[in-house]
Amino acid sequence: MDKEFRKQLDDYIRVRLNEKRYRHTTGVVYTAVRLADRYGADRDKAETAALFHDACKNLDIEEMNMLVDQYRIGDYYIDKPQLAHSKLAAAILEDKFGVTDEDILNAIRYHTTGRAGMSLLEKIIFVADATEPNRTYEEAEDLNKLAFSDLDQACLEVLKWTARLVEESGRYMDPDTTEALRWMDSMLRDQSVEDSRTFAVFAAQTIDDKKGLDVIVLDIRGKSMFADFLLIATGGSERQINALASEVEDRSEKRGRFVRHIEGKNGSGWILMDYGDVVINILSASMREKYDLEKIWSDCEQIEWEV
Ligand SMILES: [Fe+2]
Ligand SMILES: [Fe+2]
Repeated sequence: MDKEFRKQLDDYIRVRLNEKRYRHTTGVVYTAVRLADRYGADRDKAETAALFHDACKNLDIEEMNMLVDQYRIGDYYIDKPQLAHSKLAAAILEDKFGVTDEDILNAIRYHTTGRAGMSLLEKIIFVADATEPNRTYEEAEDLNKLAFSDLDQACLEVLKWTARLVEESGRYMDPDTTEALRWMDSMLRDQSVEDSRTFAVFAAQTIDDKKGLDVIVLDIRGKSMFADFLLIATGGSERQINALASEVEDRSEKRGRFVRHIEGKNGSGWILMDYGDVVINILSASMREKYDLEKIWSDCEQIEWEV
């Protein structure tokens, strides 16, 4: 980041923020820049947004209302300093410092509420704001750690925390937060279904690779409470059934997938491997015919797994 520009922003906020808020800001800068490096975001943009995000936080309510009016932020923000300070900081950064980068401005605008469709930079500022090292609430440290391993998950947790805080304090819940929560929650859910599907396909290919027969994968979401995908395959002999199960277990472990439990290992002609979201059944031909699992799940869609 350009040193002179950084100094200008720093000079502006230093005289306007109390000591505690200034310290918080340096914590947000520190965390945001590290998160930007971690996730390949633009560190200059992260630094700019973090440095200025709370520039208006310590204004008194009259001045804030006046500026909301002056910058035409919207009547909705009158007497809502908690929300207005974000929108104002973005307006001032643009007006007084000529910053027009919409990503930087949005990261500042939505740092309090979040919003549906947040960009990477927006998530970084949102999460850094809530988890920087000077934050002292109970979950702060864990959330900070989570931010570096899974930013989306951390974002969801911070949104939940924000919603809880707003509710407890009796403040008005901004619709942007409600929508952000819904968006992030469903996005992560879709992602986890996608992970399950990928794993089921991988297991099917492994069994096929080791000459398992009649491999099918069924999408049982909505039909079953216990799993998302069900795999059924036939092994030619008891030995092969065991070999197929071991191969799936070994290769899955290499992908970080560990079986929760296995049933029927000792010559029963049916091994069931429970991976939580994916359940794998390897049966002898006669057991498969006898129990006819396909018939039980006949209204479920089969997943394409062959390469
Ligand atoms: Fe703020
Ligand atoms: Fe902040």
